[in-house]
Amino acid sequence: MYRSKISGVGHYVPSNVVTNEDLSKMMDTSDEWIQERTGIKERRWIDPGSDDTTASMGVKAAKIAIERSGIDKNDIDFIVFATLSPDMYFPGPGVQVQKDLELKTVGALDVRNQCSGFVYGISVADQFIRTGMYKNILVIGSELHSKGLDKTTRGRGVTVIFGDGAGAVILSREEDESRGILSTHLHSEGEHAEELVLKAPGMGTRWVSDILKDNDPNDESYYPYMNGQFVFKHAVQRFSEVIMEGLEANGLSKNDIDLLIPHQANLRISQFIQRKFGLVDDQVYNNIMYYGNTTAASIPIALSEAWENGAINNGDLVVLAAFGSGFTWGSVIVKW
Ligand code: UT7
Repeated sequence: MYRSKISGVGHYVPSNVVTNEDLSKMMDTSDEWIQERTGIKERRWIDPGSDDTTASMGVKAAKIAIERSGIDKNDIDFIVFATLSPDMYFPGPGVQVQKDLELKTVGALDVRNQCSGFVYGISVADQFIRTGMYKNILVIGSELHSKGLDKTTRGRGVTVIFGDGAGAVILSREEDESRGILSTHLHSEGEHAEELVLKAPGMGTRWVSDILKDNDPNDESYYPYMNGQFVFKHAVQRFSEVIMEGLEANGLSKNDIDLLIPHQANLRISQFIQRKFGLVDDQVYNNIMYYGNTTAASIPIALSEAWENGAINNGDLVVLAAFGSGFTWGSVIVKW
């Protein structure tokens, strides 16, 4: 059995900055409310005139990760693409990346799993490398939320939170068993599927012929819905559990953590986890203040930024943890 290691990281965010003040001109909200409840100061939303898409942002992040890993792009054996905001209903954006990067005919797998999508994607890629099937896998998390949000007061509980962006990593074979991804842990609880949900378009909700007939501008099923407090309570519990699960599976304790990179759902959630695990500010990487919640892209963007800022060093124990719609949650324990 081999191990896999993260050999390159990259991220791309659109240049268009949307501040809380900007949002308060679109809906009844305020900088004070948003910062106090979420920690978010601003987020990136693609410029309406921009041609950025979920796939193209993923490609931009991927190019940086490939360059930093030092591999030739033709050495990529497989693509995993996590998103909840694909450009098309089908096919998913994985094949678009294969085409745009001209990666021969390598396989491309699209992962859903929302905020946990990147952690699920890493886990899948890790298994392929452990078994020896592949040597280098491109894993992308990319989201374009801004085209799908309700930018009226009706949608304020959700819309102020989400941002656009993409992050990517190259996972490569590691022969040294003491390094790389030590373990991954995945969970779900479908009974809460509708507490954080985007129902339409979906074949479970309505006949497409009816949608076209009605074309009702007040149909909220096309906008994401979140039972915020319910999700918050489950998030803090599941984050804690799955981080502990990962540490214990490797005979480690919270004192061994060098850097925790939680999915950027809410600064208050990250701070709660930080207190619970007794970590100091430098041991938890947060950037939700500047990007909002970019769901599947949030961990790879944060990972790439943390690496750029010198916050990750060889030999560090890095913990990635996510929780989100599904509910789904998971963790990745990495010896860098
Ligand atoms: O990434 C996937 C996982 N996601 C999460 O983990 C998110 C978890 N949940 C949260 O982060 C928080 O629940 C939110 C940030 C979404 C909401 O914060 P909250 O403190 O739970 O607020 P709330 O939903 O209970 O709403 C409190 C009040 C309500 O008004 P009333 O009923 O008290 O009069 C809302 O209508 O705040 C109102 N409100 C707003 N006011 C100004 C909701 N959104 C806004 C807004 N601006 N944007």
